[in-house]
Amino acid sequence: MVSIFNSEKDINGMREAGRLASEVLDYITPFVKPGISTGKLDQLCHAYMRDVQKTIPAPLNYQPPGYPPFPAAICTSVNDVICHGIPGDKILKNGDAVNLDITVISPAGYFGDTSRMFAVGDISILASRLNQITYECMWLGIAQVKPGAQLGDIGSAIQIHAESAGYSVVREYCGHGIGKVFHQDPQILHYGKAGTGDTLLEGMTFTIEPMINAGRREIRTMPDQWTVKTKDRSLSAQWENTVLVTATGVEVLTWSTGSPPPPECVKHLQFRPHLVAV
Ligand code: MF3
Ligand code: CO
Ligand code: CO
Repeated sequence: MVSIFNSEKDINGMREAGRLASEVLDYITPFVKPGISTGKLDQLCHAYMRDVQKTIPAPLNYQPPGYPPFPAAICTSVNDVICHGIPGDKILKNGDAVNLDITVISPAGYFGDTSRMFAVGDISILASRLNQITYECMWLGIAQVKPGAQLGDIGSAIQIHAESAGYSVVREYCGHGIGKVFHQDPQILHYGKAGTGDTLLEGMTFTIEPMINAGRREIRTMPDQWTVKTKDRSLSAQWENTVLVTATGVEVLTWSTGSPPPPECVKHLQFRPHLVAV
């Protein structure tokens, strides 16, 4: 099932869910400092969602076929963790790079899914370059989105940018359609060939969430059955937004006052501030 939203009610519902997810990241940002545990970040985000926003954390007890229920409200993926890191007693230290991935279910029943990288104190030049290139990969993917574009256009733009920088693209996980359910068709691969794949239609909503490794692309899954790390222990980074295909281009739904500005490489796009006409 693919979600195609054409009513103002649904589109505004997706905008609200996206803003709420992004606002959880805004809220938690000042807490991401050396000495805090990933479990504390989870607890703070969960309380903010439940008590302030009245949203539901979609990851909590999420259980796709073949997985145990996810035991926390958010994902915290540190350094060589690619995705789905489980918050716990791990203390963040100076030099760590952590991805916080938030998915909320809004009071009206729509999903918003977004993640950002955070530098804990001062991080290495390598880690900050990986974060920046991954951020650019996400935005170069977003910049491909418009009615009539094909899924391969998104994947290709991301893969070319990552590999030109000497990095690799994780293949086992991808972006996804999202709407009144968490994960649905289409799958948004972060690699591929331009001019191939399904054609985008106005009203589609999906995520773009490239996972980029500093080393090789291979993964290994930890015994907890959720945490995914790089096989070669190299650093991995990820950024994620939920987007809407508009009549002329793309709108970033997971947008809030704390969202970082788009990078220079997409400055050719009109941006006002989260509506992009391509
Ligand atoms: N938010 C993740 C995504 O981008 C999915 C997390 S599923 C969980 O699709 F169960 F690990 F939380
Ligand atoms: Co996510
Ligand atoms: Co997602």
